[in-house]
Amino acid sequence: MILKPLLNLLCLSLPFLHHVTAVSLPATTGPDKVGTYNFFITDTTRKDVFAPTHEPRRIIMTLYYPTTSASTNFPHPEYMSPVVAAHYETTLELPNGTVKSITPNSYYGAPLKSPNVKLILFSTGFGSSRYVYATLAEDLASHGYMVAALDATYDSPVVDFPDGKIAVADPENVAGNVTAEKVTKYYDERVKDVLFTIKSLSMPSLTSVIPGVGAKGLKVERVGMFGHSLGGAAAAGAMAAEDTILGGVNLDGRFFGSVSTKGLKKPFVIFGAEGHNRTVEETWKSFWNSPSKGWKRELSLKGAAHVTFSDYAPLIELLGLKKLFPKEVLEEIVGTIGGLRAMTIQRVYLKAFFDKVLAHSKGKLLNGPDPNYPEVSFI
Ligand SMILES: *[C@@H]1O[C@H](CO)[C@@H](O)[C@H](O)[C@H]1NC(C)=O
Ligand SMILES: *[C@@H]1O[C@H](CO)[C@@H](O)[C@H](O)[C@H]1NC(C)=O
Ligand SMILES: *[C@@H]1O[C@H](CO)[C@@H](O)[C@H](O)[C@H]1NC(C)=O
Repeated sequence: MILKPLLNLLCLSLPFLHHVTAVSLPATTGPDKVGTYNFFITDTTRKDVFAPTHEPRRIIMTLYYPTTSASTNFPHPEYMSPVVAAHYETTLELPNGTVKSITPNSYYGAPLKSPNVKLILFSTGFGSSRYVYATLAEDLASHGYMVAALDATYDSPVVDFPDGKIAVADPENVAGNVTAEKVTKYYDERVKDVLFTIKSLSMPSLTSVIPGVGAKGLKVERVGMFGHSLGGAAAAGAMAAEDTILGGVNLDGRFFGSVSTKGLKKPFVIFGAEGHNRTVEETWKSFWNSPSKGWKRELSLKGAAHVTFSDYAPLIELLGLKKLFPKEVLEEIVGTIGGLRAMTIQRVYLKAFFDKVLAHSKGKLLNGPDPNYPEVSFI
């Protein structure tokens, strides 16, 4: 049910566009410039249960982090790797070059400002690429956080690795033919990926390759997590399994696994699309009513749909794709709230949450409605 709008989008045929306009992702709002780096790890203790051959589980992520202003000499990364861009352009029937026309704010390979980091993990929506959440990740990084945005190998549609290997997800996943049992399998692997990533990011032998880090490695001070859809469920699941994750945010995802009934002892926010709330979402209701006494909030974003919690929302606006969709289709995918406005709000609330959990701020914004953000209600 929750996956349906995205699946519709992926199955949609767009009329051919003749002009491709160059656009930049929404400007970041924090004081720091942002560096990015693709970080690749292999969990040799675990076979990839989705791989056609019995290979160890491979995980690739984009790290977004604060860098120095001198770093503007580094190039902007491509919005997506060419392989992933080709996949999205083909599936969405966008003209060749559409993805290349999108420029992130960040600088690829720029040095990390300080090896002491507050780390925020991110997990994508089911069947989505890590790249389509750059707007949120870049902004948190501009406010001083390191964000590790993980692809879900064999679940994100196409994942390419530095050695040229490409993991392609089962095409039936996007065709809407996926059972809850199968999604649970993907969920389980995502949670394991997160735990392995946290371990890896504390190993100097692995992190010394990250620009600016050096032989002593990263010093991870505090850890938080958020995710969209299945990734939001994974955030809760990883928190339950790993003490070091201090708080999490679920962007409009149904829960999976035991957190649905057991809840969490640590701070957690559910940020739902309009009309998607614990009255109608059973797993949110049981999470909410669980005996666990962790601090929690349920927020609802008026005018938002499921995919509003991704770069689709601002990009449909920025690329001028809006006029190509029938109104009802557009509303089903990204809702009626403008995509840029939706991103502003998500950025502000995510920052408020992570400042509260990881940086000891009071988190006033999370105490109740704010006149600056009337679209957000507390449920
Ligand atoms: C897209 O355009 C580039 C540059 O003109 C070309 O190299 C590439 O083969 C094209 N890709 C497709 C899928 O047509
Ligand atoms: C769904 O799965 C069934 C059985 O595997 C298959 O026959 C059907 O073509 C699939 N539908 C789609 C839309 O892929
Ligand atoms: C919760 O969702 C239902 C169904 O979409 C809707 O009727 C109701 O108004 C929502 N509740 C709140 C408090 O937004």
